[in-house]
Amino acid sequence: MSDIFTKLAYQTFQQGKAAFALAHKNTASQLRNLINPPINQLRTKPLSPDILQLLRQRLEQILETDWQDAQLGVYPESLLFDNPWEDFWRYYPGICLDLLNIWERVNQNKYQEFSPDIDIQNYPNYYRRNFHYQTDGYLSDTSANLYDLQVELLFNGAADPMRRRVLAPLKEGLKAFDAVPPQQIRVLDVACGTGRTLKMIRASLPKASLFGTDLSPTYLRKANQLLSQIPGELPQLMQAKAEELPYRDNYFHGITCVFLFHELPPSIRQRIIEQCFRVIQPGGVFVICDSIQAIDFPQFMPMMENFPAMFHEPYYRHYITDDLVKRLTQAGFEAITTQNHFMSKYWIAHKPEDATV
Ligand SMILES: C[S@@+](CC[C@H](N)C(=O)[O-])C[C@H]1O[C@@H](n2cnc3c(N)ncnc32)[C@H](O)[C@@H]1O
Repeated sequence: MSDIFTKLAYQTFQQGKAAFALAHKNTASQLRNLINPPINQLRTKPLSPDILQLLRQRLEQILETDWQDAQLGVYPESLLFDNPWEDFWRYYPGICLDLLNIWERVNQNKYQEFSPDIDIQNYPNYYRRNFHYQTDGYLSDTSANLYDLQVELLFNGAADPMRRRVLAPLKEGLKAFDAVPPQQIRVLDVACGTGRTLKMIRASLPKASLFGTDLSPTYLRKANQLLSQIPGELPQLMQAKAEELPYRDNYFHGITCVFLFHELPPSIRQRIIEQCFRVIQPGGVFVICDSIQAIDFPQFMPMMENFPAMFHEPYYRHYITDDLVKRLTQAGFEAITTQNHFMSKYWIAHKPEDATV
């Protein structure tokens, strides 16, 4: 009986988040037309009722899977209700105010604008930009404080359920190392951002040694704050390019990577896959989560076309047709499977037992 109530509470919680996100987006778009109407009309295509209906169904499906995975013990039920409430109250006004800067950037097509105190010299060219037209790109504390809420609003409250879908394949893949004591299992989250996926992995694998890398020092600082608040050994965080991972060969039993690949030029995607192959142990599992692709849901093409038009996402168009199975195979991975949940796609790949890298 208590399960029924918990499920109802979870559904209500998610419906509340979705309703809030939709209200936020509708209000924002009306305000925008009043205050800062687009100079160059964005060529976004309206979504048909069929697509909206399909989106609602897919949202319900991912929430059901999320619930089921918790029931199966992939992670504790409490994770379903995890929400950065404190950040929400503190930073939601900041998100609203920052919209004015974002709209101006969109109108003027400015996507390489950073506060003067930010030194961008040491970052690769493809990274020195305002992805999503967000203020300071990934390179300020303000951006790090707003990011999680912005992503939740974008995905109508389903960003965390999408991230959590890496946990079942990760745990399944780690079964290959059942003979290894749990505290000796090493898991890396590549491009860990503000640490939400690492927090989920910690809940799912309480004893494992966790590691995270990201290029952004401010996002890593935010991740450190978040992860310091939870029980268990603090994950080891390091600033690093994913295409030059600072770890020795065959070190990790599992690697995850969430929402990174669509923000990379194709050659960098390949290099990151090769690096992950190098640092993962033979028999280890690599789980990628990113946006759905054109081949998965051709009916979502209008949405996939709208995305890079509304947000600064210069590599997304190539990403949606990029064959990551081919890239993973080229790097040496095998037994590659894919899954789709809501608006995301997952690649689960294994390093062969007899790999010699
Ligand atoms: C869309 S965010 C995803 C963050 C996080 N994984 C999540 O689930 O929200 C992309 C992240 O990738 C990082 N990033 C982008 N290019 C990178 C690279 N070449 N090496 C390491 N991190 C990178 C950014 O700093 C940012 O934190």
